[in-house]
Formats: sequence, C-alpha cells, structure tokens
Amino acid sequence: MCGIIGYSGHRPAVPVVMEGLGRLEYRGYDSAGVAYVQRGQLIVLRAEGKLSNLARKLEETPSLTATSGMGHTRWATHGLPVERNAHPHQDQQGSVALVHNGIIENYQELREELEAQGVAFSSETDTEVLAQLLGRCLAETGSLDKALSMALGRVDGSYAVCVVSRDHPGVLYAARKSSPLVMGVGVGENFLASDIPAFLPYTRDVVFLEDGEMARIDANSWQVLDVATLAPVTKEIKHITWDVQAAQKGGYKHFMLKEIFEQPRVITDCLAGRVDRRTGRANLSELDGLAPPERLTILACGTSYHAGLWGMYLLESWARIPTRVEIASEYRYRDPIVGPGDTVLAISQSGETADTLAGMRLARERGATVIGLCNVVGSTVSRESDRVVYTQAGPEMSVASTKAMCSQLTLLTLLALHWGQQKGVLPAEATAHCVKTMESLPGILEAELPRMRSRAGELSRAYSDATSFLYLGRGQCFPLALEGALKLKEISYIHAEGYASGEMKHGPIALIDPKFPTFALAPRDELFPKVKSNLEEVRARGGKVIALTRAGSGLQADHEWECPEVWGPLSTFLLLPALQLFAYEMADYLGKDVDQPRNLAKSVTVE
Ligand code: F6R
Repeated sequence: MCGIIGYSGHRPAVPVVMEGLGRLEYRGYDSAGVAYVQRGQLIVLRAEGKLSNLARKLEETPSLTATSGMGHTRWATHGLPVERNAHPHQDQQGSVALVHNGIIENYQELREELEAQGVAFSSETDTEVLAQLLGRCLAETGSLDKALSMALGRVDGSYAVCVVSRDHPGVLYAARKSSPLVMGVGVGENFLASDIPAFLPYTRDVVFLEDGEMARIDANSWQVLDVATLAPVTKEIKHITWDVQAAQKGGYKHFMLKEIFEQPRVITDCLAGRVDRRTGRANLSELDGLAPPERLTILACGTSYHAGLWGMYLLESWARIPTRVEIASEYRYRDPIVGPGDTVLAISQSGETADTLAGMRLARERGATVIGLCNVVGSTVSRESDRVVYTQAGPEMSVASTKAMCSQLTLLTLLALHWGQQKGVLPAEATAHCVKTMESLPGILEAELPRMRSRAGELSRAYSDATSFLYLGRGQCFPLALEGALKLKEISYIHAEGYASGEMKHGPIALIDPKFPTFALAPRDELFPKVKSNLEEVRARGGKVIALTRAGSGLQADHEWECPEVWGPLSTFLLLPALQLFAYEMADYLGKDVDQPRNLAKSVTVE
C-alpha cells in the first residue's frame, strides 16, 4: 500500500506534491520520491526512510519552479526499502517517470523479456519493469496515451500509476486497476492521488476513477479515457465535505473500521503472485531453496499469537508438520529445547515486539532457522530472520489489530499449502478447493461486511449492559474465540474470556448465569454437534447465547447471527470480521476511544 500524487497547475509543484505526500504517509513510509520536468530534463529525487529525509534533500535542490510533478511514498512489496527501490522509476532513456501503488504479478517474466532486449535495470522492483516497458512503448507509438495503454495491456496484477514525461511537461497521465485513484479538479490546477486528503486543501471537487480507466490532466483540463480503447469516458464531479482527518479515514469514523473493511483488499494483495490459479500451487518464492520444516515452532504475542494458533491446525493437517505455538514472552524465559534442524516462524505485524524478537534471537543462537512473517518492511524481525515473508496488509493505524491478522491467516494458509505440496502430503480436497475458495473470498467478504456491521450494531446494543462475556469455539474456532475476547476487552474494556468449548465443563460453566452472556462460534463443520451440546448446557443454566452460525443451523440461541460459510477451515475469513465488528460496535456505542484504547501501544517494544 503506497501513496501517489500528481499535480499540474499554476503553483510550484514540488511543495504541493510534498504536502500531499505528508497526508498520504499513513499509506506507507519506508521511502519517498518526486519527479518533475525542469529545463527540458526529467528530474527524479528519492530518499530512503521518512518523508523528512526527502524534504532535506529537496532543500539542497535550487529553483524548484516546475508547475507540474508527482510524488510517491512507499510501502515496500518487492525489494528492500532502500533508495534505488524508491519511486519514481524511470525508463533507460529518461523519457518517462512512473509512480505505482499495487503489485505487478508477471513482473519477473516481463523483466526477463526486457533484459533480453538489452534493458538494464537499476532496482529490484516490479514498478521499474513497468517504467521500462512504458519507455519502450513510447518509443514505438510516439504518444504517451497509446504507450500507457499498450504497456498496461501487458501487465497482470493491480496498479494505480501516475506518469510524467520529459517531452510533455505539464501533462500527467494516470490509470488504475484494483488500487485506488482519485482526481481532484481545481481552478487552473488539477490533481491525481491515491486518496482525497492529498489535495483536500486545494479542492473538494473530485472524480473517482474506476478500474480500467485512464486520466489525463494538465493545468486547465482533464479527461478520462478507457485504458484499453482510449475512448472518452463521461465522469461526474463529486463535492466532498470531509475534513482532512475524516478523509484519511476514507470517510469511516475510525481507522479500525476502515481497516476491517479493507480486509477483502488485503486478501487479494496477499495472494497476488503467490498462487497459480491453474494448478492450485502456492508459490512462496521467499522460501526458495528451503526444505519444509521437520518441526515448527511459532512464536508471537497477542493477536499474532492467535493467528499462529489458527495456523497450527492447517500446518499439521495439510502439511503434516509437527507444530507448536508459543507465547513469545513465556518461551524466551524458559530453557526451550531448540537447535539445528528446528524452524521457528516469528509472527509479528510490527516486527518490533520485544518478546517476539528475544524469542527468535534465542532460537537463532541455538541454531534454529528463523522465518519472519511480518507486515512492516525493514523491521527488526524482518532484518534478523533468515527468511522473511511479508504480509502486505499496508500500515495498520488502529491499535487493535484487524487487517494484519487477516493477512497473517492468508499467509499461514499459503504456507500450509506450500509445504504440504512440497512434501506431497496435501489432502486432495485441499488442493482442489483452497486456491479457488481463497480467490472467491474478497468478493464474498466485500458483499457481506455492510450486513455484518449492521447485525454487530444491533447485537452490541442488546448486550451493552453485560460486564463479562464468554467466547467459545472448537477446533480452528478456538483461536478465534480467543481473538474475539481480546478484541472486546481491549477496545470496549468489557471483561471477556476465550475458551475451548470442550473445556467449559471443566470450570467456567460455574460462572454461567443470566447476566453472563456467551458468544459462540458455531460454523456447520464436523465439530458442530459438539458445540451445539455445549450451548445447550449454557442455556440450561440460564445463560444467554449469541451464536455465529449458518442460516437454519437449528441452534437454540437467544440471538442467532447468520454468517455465510465457504469451504472448510476458510470460513474463518468470514467469522473473524464479525468478531471484530461486534467489538468495534460495542466500543463505539459505549463511547470508548476505539483507535487508541487506554493503556495500549501499537508496537510493544518493551519487555
Ligand atoms: C491486539 C494487538 C496486539 C498485538 C501484539 C503483537 O489487537 O494488536 O495484541 O497483536 O502486541 O504485536 P505484533 O504483531 O506487532 O508483534
């Protein structure tokens, strides 16, 4: 998830672009860059790290008089977060520069094709491949719109791109497919950006671009074209009334809500380039040359720990890898039996959690191979792991983790698939259904989320007097019960316990009374009959039950919450957002500080 902005108008462009990038920094912040044309030359300036580093570089650059230009703030997907991989990227001739948000899935084969034609690359990014391809197409067609249409016709994957060219200063082109792009329409100036806050101080009139559309702007005009045919498309200008803060939240009331609603996109991004739709094979090139683990230890904290617990079920049943999942803060202070031949998977959104780091350092010192599964590129976990697999969820702003867990579950599914396929032990059913189901999930989830939110709203109001909740689940729903309880605790401050349903009769059943509601995860899987009898035990003791289950499941619950199901364990991807939304709606209804709950920090860098 990166941020892009383009400007053409009557003001010096670079300050406008830099200001816009500042408002897009929430989309990524590992490097940044700008491009503009000055005295017939295409100038590209880039810097590693925060935007302030680029600002310092620009201070040393005299006479920034260009009145058009573009910029990018990066959240790395391909290649390390270093200057050579920062955007904008140029073609070899320096005739075009391009910024990109998204993932070009077939970049490897395009790169090989271009290298065979003598193109020399200066970065490891998928974006430079598109810049070089565009330069070639421009040389062939002589016109930027035709060249962009031709180049984009060759790429698979997702993109929002913005382009400036040396020979047409003042004109910018942009196009999108599955990545956001909006145009801001001003007086004597026009804008292109990933998100409205980038240009909100200058104009509130926007045109939302759709997939397959291309925009052309200069200072005094704008036009939208069909990317494939270049036929003009009629668009409507919308007037926005949000302030900058609201706009950064994309119109959502809180970052947490926005991030819950981003989960369909997160699944798509995590899968991009990592599965072969035709053969159903997982392709985790990050692990090339590494044999499947003999034994696996997963280390993590909090929500990431719950993701790890969930992953254990698939890693054992699909890949037949003996797996244990450890709370990092416990593991590091034991004298764990770990050494050469062991593999440790450290899961961390931030990549900076002190206990997870200490646990993985200990395992590494004793000779284990460490694989990092993390979201923040260049973080300590990623730097100190032998291999790293990035979850590509984009920056998570809300303290309560939501979309990061969704991305971790997606990657754990792919890991089980990958290792199960490598070992040749993957159940035939998983091979047949997994990739197909994963690919259908974003669409299903997108359609379901608004319905889920309104049901979560109704139920949270019905139970807002409760001071304690029991969350129950069996099998892979057990880690989800833990996560549901954690989410409710951390943002609504209502006490909640997650329990394995079967353990209830070994103690917690003593707590059940009419004031102590149970939130049950009850999908129609093979464990459903067992969950059903647990819930009957709760009801027999006067306990109220909310059951997240499939329509017509015949459960005796006070409140049934119908949740659609997909194949096998992957129904989790629909159950998880329901739990997140219930906690969210409860906290919001109770007037709590949803995005920054008391006593918590986003990244726990202390022991
Ligand atoms: C809960 C939450 C925390 C984190 C935990 C680990 O919503 O966000 O429990 O999951 O602090 O953080 P990472 O994944 O950054 O290591």
